[in-house]
Amino acid sequence: MTQRVRKAVLPVAGLGTRFLPATKVIPKEMIPVIDKPVVQYAIEEARAAGIEEFIFVTADGKESIATHFYPHPVLERALEEKGKLAELKIVRDSTLPPGAVHIVKQHDPLGLGHAVWCAWQLIGNEPFAVILPDDMVLSQTPCLKQLIDAHSKVGGHVVAVEDVPRDQTNRYGILDILSDDGKLAKAKGLVEKPAPDKAPSTLAIIGRYILDPAVFTELDKHTKGAGNEIQLTDALNRTIASVPFHGLRFEGRRYDCGTRVGFVEANLAFGLAHPEMGDRLRPLVQKLLDTK
Ligand code: UTP
Repeated sequence: MTQRVRKAVLPVAGLGTRFLPATKVIPKEMIPVIDKPVVQYAIEEARAAGIEEFIFVTADGKESIATHFYPHPVLERALEEKGKLAELKIVRDSTLPPGAVHIVKQHDPLGLGHAVWCAWQLIGNEPFAVILPDDMVLSQTPCLKQLIDAHSKVGGHVVAVEDVPRDQTNRYGILDILSDDGKLAKAKGLVEKPAPDKAPSTLAIIGRYILDPAVFTELDKHTKGAGNEIQLTDALNRTIASVPFHGLRFEGRRYDCGTRVGFVEANLAFGLAHPEMGDRLRPLVQKLLDTK
């Protein structure tokens, strides 16, 4: 029996340099796709997967990320008095229960592995999720739920993976595959950001993980890797002899909101899939495409 996954770490301490000047004052994760901050999609996905505690690994100036999930009594009272009950529901739906939000400061952006290590005390000794809000997934079943279901069967580390073009392997952690049933791939090794000609496969880790707490012992060594950063992939690779590692080809489509083109694509994809907006947006997108 695997232990239930109750806690999620959201590393949101990065500088967001690819989105300057938008991120000069506003955290990257607070930029909306349609009408919701990117980070709210991640929280909604996690709640739909049964996560109960949320650990934000943040940096100075990014306080608004956690605040977004607190109650807002002044706004709620004003909406109530004006009879704006639909809007009141929207505000309340974005509020997490008391005690569900934890904040840890990373202080120095030393890498994703270091950001996850910062949450060690709050996670303790149980399996946990890591969600990178930049990766947005549009799917029937929430991507994290798919991972948790797979984890309940195979245990160990289970991460979301997808095949990427070979010329992009240097942007991802890549699996060295031991066995593969077409949905779940078992890895015998992992390489962070390999050059295309060195990559052992094109199966790339995206921003959703279920991890065994054994990874913390490796992260605690603070070993630096690619880009002189403490890499999560490297720590996971060092546990692979003792902790099974599976990549799940999830159902759904991923949009990389960490890039400008990916962000525009996500707005279009989520807009077209939006129940109230999709039908109005479709002809507008078509018109833009038809305009020479
Ligand atoms: P990115 O590589 O996208 O970095 O980090 P970034 O700083 O957010 O964005 P750019 O590259 O400057 O535009 C992937 C995820 O890991 C987090 C980021 O917040 C993001 O969610 N991260 C990265 C940390 O929390 N701490 C770090 O030291 C590095």
